[in-house]
Amino acid sequence: MELRLAFNEWGQFTGGRFADRQWLLAKWEVCEGVIWPQEKIDIMLGLVSERLGLGLNDRFIDLGCGGGWMLKGLTPDSGYAVGLDFSAQMLHNAVRIDAGDALVQGEIGRLPFKAGSFDRMLCCFVLINMMEDEVVERSILDMFRLLKPGGKLLIGQLPDKAGSPDYDSAKGAYLDFCRRTYDLGEDLRDVNRMPQKLFDVPVLTSFLEKNGIGFRKLPSFNPFYRPGESPTVEWRFDLLLEK
Ligand SMILES: C[S@@+](CC[C@H](N)C(=O)[O-])C[C@H]1O[C@@H](n2cnc3c(N)ncnc32)[C@H](O)[C@@H]1O
Repeated sequence: MELRLAFNEWGQFTGGRFADRQWLLAKWEVCEGVIWPQEKIDIMLGLVSERLGLGLNDRFIDLGCGGGWMLKGLTPDSGYAVGLDFSAQMLHNAVRIDAGDALVQGEIGRLPFKAGSFDRMLCCFVLINMMEDEVVERSILDMFRLLKPGGKLLIGQLPDKAGSPDYDSAKGAYLDFCRRTYDLGEDLRDVNRMPQKLFDVPVLTSFLEKNGIGFRKLPSFNPFYRPGESPTVEWRFDLLLEK
């Protein structure tokens, strides 16, 4: 199924059944019934805000904002916060929680903004669903086009192909913890399965170098974080692009 339609279905399913609850294992990967403590949400949003150096004079956009929980959490750190998504249904969920200062329906790859429109940009847990390198590359160039000189774009939660076994064992351990801690419901991936890409780091970084894009590769926030653990992991990475 086309990705946008898959997210429309996902948005309708989650918005209807789980509108007023936290409903995902690690928010995204994905079992009904897990509650992220506020402390964990704060650590993740704090990391994003710090990496972007988000400030009250910044025009900020969250690309692929989905249901808008990150956008809503980061809005107070920015001057003007926009959310964009190609799924009307996901945006509808973002409207319901009153996320951001403005919400726009549009597609990464054909973004409806002039070059240099934003100081700070986030694209978290979005490229993971783009299976072809060509689509990933076109999306990065399109997002980078929107950055003002001096601006920063954080592309978050990219699965490192080389770290795939570590991810599997971390997920297994977290699932065991969740079974002991929460009243777990069904695995929602059985209801709606999204394609997931594993990134070849040398391929991606050489693309950035070839295009003269300055970047830093950073460990991602650990979606399976529990108190006492490191807040970041190596099996997912973020790219911080700077213009
Ligand atoms: C896994 S969700 C992540 C949502 C949010 N960023 C988060 O981290 O919770 C991916 C979102 O990206 C959107 N998306 C995927 N590809 C897109 C594209 N090419 N243009 C715009 N939105 C896209 C989907 O509709 C979906 O809402």
